[in-house]
Amino acid sequence: MRIYLDNAATTSLCQEAKSEMIRIMEEVYGNPSSIHSEGRKARTVIENGRKTIANAINASVGEIFFTSGSTEAANMVIEGAVNNLGVTRIISSPIEHHCVLHPLEKINKSGIPVDYLKVGKKGQIDYDELTHLLSTNHEKTLVCLMHANNEIGTINDVGRISEICSSNNAYFFSDTTQTIGHIPIDVQQNKFHFLTGSAHKFYGPKGCGFVYINSEITIDPLILGGSQERNMRAGTENIIGIAGMATALNYTLLNLPSFQEKISSLREYLKSGILANIDGSYVNGDDGSCLPKILSVSFPPSSRNEMLLMNLDISGIAASGGSACSSGVESQSGVLDFIGEPQDRKTVRFSFSHNNTYQQLDKVIESLKILFPKS
Ligand SMILES: Cc1ncc(COP(=O)(O)O)c(C=O)c1O
Repeated sequence: MRIYLDNAATTSLCQEAKSEMIRIMEEVYGNPSSIHSEGRKARTVIENGRKTIANAINASVGEIFFTSGSTEAANMVIEGAVNNLGVTRIISSPIEHHCVLHPLEKINKSGIPVDYLKVGKKGQIDYDELTHLLSTNHEKTLVCLMHANNEIGTINDVGRISEICSSNNAYFFSDTTQTIGHIPIDVQQNKFHFLTGSAHKFYGPKGCGFVYINSEITIDPLILGGSQERNMRAGTENIIGIAGMATALNYTLLNLPSFQEKISSLREYLKSGILANIDGSYVNGDDGSCLPKILSVSFPPSSRNEMLLMNLDISGIAASGGSACSSGVESQSGVLDFIGEPQDRKTVRFSFSHNNTYQQLDKVIESLKILFPKS
């Protein structure tokens, strides 16, 4: 049996979402924009899905727009903030996901300055630096700071960032892709202008996500065409994906306390097993403020490091070297460079789901002991 420990890259589809998607495939085939009863039936699936997503983050339904995932949503937010909200400066961090960093590079080439906050060794940002940058320059600013880092799991205090942005009249976009369905988020409690989420990170299907846009603001769509999503995202809606995403989010949120308890305990178990058995290993990220599903471990220099992920795979263990997009490439990720991780060490990201077991983790520890024999 394979041991899947790459749940930050993507999760398996939960049975609830799968059954609902099969039901929709079999029963609901109308175009949601059609006015006949088949169309209206499809429209109902979408609007029910929107209610579920909105309720999950305490937003109103008018603030949720479906997209193909977080990458599209982040592109839409960044383009829209600059083109429609008069944003003339962006503040972000160098360890954001590429779906934020690459649009920022493009925007920067068009003349919009982007300030990247310094990040500490644990991947933490400096809140005083953010306050300083915002309070000493009053240009209209978009702050793009993720909720939790996808490679090392460090959590940003979005409540604090939101307060800093509000007191300085800045827009706040948080990439919540790794936290939606894993950490409660309430847009009434903390002010966000934009959030993004992706179904495949919380046991839903791939290729479906959403953007939350605070009702105080309006931006233009990224994708032009028909008037779907109230003119905000053209193209016939992915009703199967939306139904799967909403069902999966309900499923994770209903089970959140027990899933979190299990996942935190699995993380502690693997962490202590590795630290006790592999000399010179340590944990990357901020252990005091970390997404429980992510355990990023730095292994000591070894001639076998280049093949480490491959060897784990051969032993039946799926883990990752960093983010999914870089996991096929054996070079160190930008995030690890920014937190000062030496190039001669090897980082493996183990990421958990409630489906993992302690016996699986025992097998991981045994495999690692063979790969890193005591000298
Ligand atoms: C933090 C973060 N943002 C954005 C994305 C991109 O999400 P999607 O696959 O929905 O485009 C990912 C996925 O790896 C992620 O981890």
